[in-house]
Amino acid sequence: MSPRRIRPHVNPLSITKEYSFEGFQNSAPILVDVGACKGEFAEEFIRQFPEKNFVLFEIRVPLAQKLKEKFAGNKNVVVFDGDAGRNFESILRPSVERGRKLETVFINFPDPWFKERHKKRRFLNKNFLNSCAEWIMPETKFIFQTDQEFLFLETLELVRESAFSQVEFFDEPPFGISTDWEQAKLREGEKIWRMKFYK
Ligand SMILES: C[S@@+](CC[C@H](N)C(=O)[O-])C[C@H]1O[C@@H](n2cnc3c(N)ncnc32)[C@H](O)[C@@H]1O
Repeated sequence: MSPRRIRPHVNPLSITKEYSFEGFQNSAPILVDVGACKGEFAEEFIRQFPEKNFVLFEIRVPLAQKLKEKFAGNKNVVVFDGDAGRNFESILRPSVERGRKLETVFINFPDPWFKERHKKRRFLNKNFLNSCAEWIMPETKFIFQTDQEFLFLETLELVRESAFSQVEFFDEPPFGISTDWEQAKLREGEKIWRMKFYK
């Protein structure tokens, strides 16, 4: 009989973890990457704007661990391995209330979470937009990009029903930075859907 490999069951998603964050030690603007994955987008962004602060969310623990290692030397970068939606307010709101500028929130090619019971994991959902509207400043821009037309249209409808009434569509990758996922989808001939919205 060949020896059986015994593997402990490890949940690769950290969905229920909750964090707080006392903020950066400087007053530079803060940018957020939701679902940073391997961090290539953030890396290029940080290269272009080294003076800014970055908050990266990645729900998959092994990817988040790699991100922590990748940015270990950057004092202006923090990585959280929880669900971005569950942690967004507790991490960002204290900084905003202290007068820090939350400049841009990138939601680049988020997982569509097709199953009805998983929809609540979508970062942009009705509850999130409503609770954010209470404390997010008008200068904060959300950038949403996806190759999924249905997700784009469903999200657009939610945004239009929310306090984030300013919506702009655009064609080119923001700051000329094309994410890994975008490049893969473009190679497959997919169309990319993009919008920016704010209060
Ligand atoms: C399709 S990939 C896109 C990755 C990257 N943004 C890009 O454009 O190349 C989606 C990423 O979002 C992460 N993710 C999905 N839901 C999340 C959530 N609720 N909170 C944090 N990360 C999430 C996934 O683990 C995955 O790494």
